[in-house]
Amino acid sequence: MTAPPASPQDVATGLRAAGYLPSESAALVSYLAARLGKPVLVEGPAGVGKTELAKALATYLERPLVRLQCYEGLDEAKALYEWNYRKQLLRIQAEADGAGWQEVQDDIFGAEFLLERPLMTAIASENPVVLLIDEIDKTDQEFEAMLLELLSDFQLSIPELGRFEARTHPVVLLTSNNSRELTEALKRRCLYLWLDYPSLEHELEIVRLHAPELSQEMGRKLVEVVAMVRELDLKKPPSIAESIDWARALLLLGADDIDGDVFMQTMSIIVKHRTDLDVVTERVGMKLPRAATAG
Ligand SMILES: Nc1ncnc2c1ncn2[C@@H]1O[C@H](COP(=O)(O)OP(=O)(O)OP(=O)(O)O)[C@@H](O)[C@H]1O
Ligand SMILES: [Mg+2]
Repeated sequence: MTAPPASPQDVATGLRAAGYLPSESAALVSYLAARLGKPVLVEGPAGVGKTELAKALATYLERPLVRLQCYEGLDEAKALYEWNYRKQLLRIQAEADGAGWQEVQDDIFGAEFLLERPLMTAIASENPVVLLIDEIDKTDQEFEAMLLELLSDFQLSIPELGRFEARTHPVVLLTSNNSRELTEALKRRCLYLWLDYPSLEHELEIVRLHAPELSQEMGRKLVEVVAMVRELDLKKPPSIAESIDWARALLLLGADDIDGDVFMQTMSIIVKHRTDLDVVTERVGMKLPRAATAG
């Protein structure tokens, strides 16, 4: 485990070394989270590096990453802990015939019969971890309320075992795609980081990190075209992930320029809705210069 970061600059350097190029605000908020022990709520459109930030932080801080992927209907049994019924049953069967109820009960509601789920793992860990609660907006408000308690007290109570206090404090990142408004109570307890589409320079750097063979000129052209596409009113604007995919595809196809033809052939890598394709063809594809046709 590394020493706590001494400055936001420290965090920026560390994240870069872990393969993540943070914006200034991402480095600052991550620094504050590591030092103040407050959870961070990371919001922003799809594919702008929310999940990746948590992974890179774990690498940089040399902590294990514990991930809770949220979905509709996620409940405590899948997020916190669950009793291992099968093992309990086996124990009951193996128990000597004469054992009284109390003895059996004391026996089967012990730590040995508990199945730890991510939230429990994160606070029970001897060594501090990075806890990623991914896509919290997919859960319902009851789940959020349970989470609040955990995030403010770092303890939970298991009726059969009593109160369970955290051994160590995790660095917590919650991500949201804004599919529903999160409660004020949750926001109040968190630092907030809005991750947006990056600037041209920043995206160029990210794309070239993931596709190093891409030339500076092609890279620049690519991020400029992607930025143009994002300005249109699309159902789903291209994300950083898609810029990276596009760069890799262009390399693979041996394209040495992004002209109208190359764009038309490959635009489905960055535009993924039928109606968006039409808009982009007309507003971007038609405007790019055509390669001089032979003959
Ligand atoms: N700042 C960055 N530095 C390096 N790589 C980045 C950066 N931002 C995004 N990426 C890359 O972009 C891709 C998408 O990032 P990620 O999966 O974290 O997006 P997300 O915001 O969690 O998306 P979603 O909302 O769809 O889950 C990843 O492959 C990641 O490596
Ligand atoms: Mg994600």
